[in-house]
Amino acid sequence: MTKTVKLYPSEKEIPIEEGQTVLTALEKAGLVLPNNCRAGACGECKIKVRSGEFDQGLVLDMALSPSEREEGYGLMCMAKLQSDVLEIEFSDEDGGVKLFPPKENMRFVLVEKSMSTHNIVKLRLRPLGREPMRFWPGQYISINDTDGNRPKRHYSIGNIPNSDNEIILYITKVEEGKTSGWVHEELKVGESVVVDGPYGTFIGDPTADTPVLCLASGSGLAPITSLASAALLRGGFRKPATILFSARTENDLFETGLFKYLQSKFRNFKFRYTLTGDSEAEGLKGRIPAILPKLYPDLSNYSVYIAGNPDFVKDCQEKVKELGGKDELIHVEGFFNQ
Ligand code: FES
Repeated sequence: MTKTVKLYPSEKEIPIEEGQTVLTALEKAGLVLPNNCRAGACGECKIKVRSGEFDQGLVLDMALSPSEREEGYGLMCMAKLQSDVLEIEFSDEDGGVKLFPPKENMRFVLVEKSMSTHNIVKLRLRPLGREPMRFWPGQYISINDTDGNRPKRHYSIGNIPNSDNEIILYITKVEEGKTSGWVHEELKVGESVVVDGPYGTFIGDPTADTPVLCLASGSGLAPITSLASAALLRGGFRKPATILFSARTENDLFETGLFKYLQSKFRNFKFRYTLTGDSEAEGLKGRIPAILPKLYPDLSNYSVYIAGNPDFVKDCQEKVKELGGKDELIHVEGFFNQ
């Protein structure tokens, strides 16, 4: 008899081979479970098991505590079936991915701060709490000061989950913005901030078997960076995948080193940019909606991800649809309208 993993609440069943881990079986079925070490050390792949027997293998207590084991949680990167069926809480009602419940008032410490461009600051934040905040690449959080004097503002997480549970944010300075002004001018390395999250469903489908086009402007590059690097590093985005970034000048580009790395590692991946300001530089010029028809005359088969300011997102979305983009394959990040 073939063994199966049954997902709740969708009740979808997927086959699992003898000796295969649940994580591998999920991935073979095209389903995405966050994971990092794949060795029972980070806790990223933890989910609740409803019933069935499994061999958990050798995992670290810091990744799965004894009380979590008692409550029925398991690390799927190491879990192998002993019973014929294992029932796990994984998908939502539609059989899609399960989002992590957001938490409030988590303290993070600013461990690094640097300017990415003249008006975008990069923050690296590390959590103080014992329970790490788990997130899907592409999601966002809200941040404010520990005294509560600044309004909570949403920012996308710009990195993929790592073993220190850090998050990286890219924050644009907004004129008269109380929170962005505080972050840019007052917040110092070593100080604490309050984080709520994660939020959002801009997670798309990294397993989609289509070419991928990501369009971004300004700090909209943050969720695109997180989402695209996670997909590539975890074996998704197998067809040609391109990030097209809109910048005023070359001084508005950031994280170019990371994109060069991804380009060298994955032959199907390209990072391109177009300059919208006056420039003598070689390369693409003009706003993305204007240059898209020439670059991508037919987007009917593409998964498209768009993130940036609301006007940018709206204009790109309209153009992508004109070029044949299908609603179900277009993913947009619209939270910037705060
Ligand atoms: S992926 Fe790290 S514990 Fe499973």
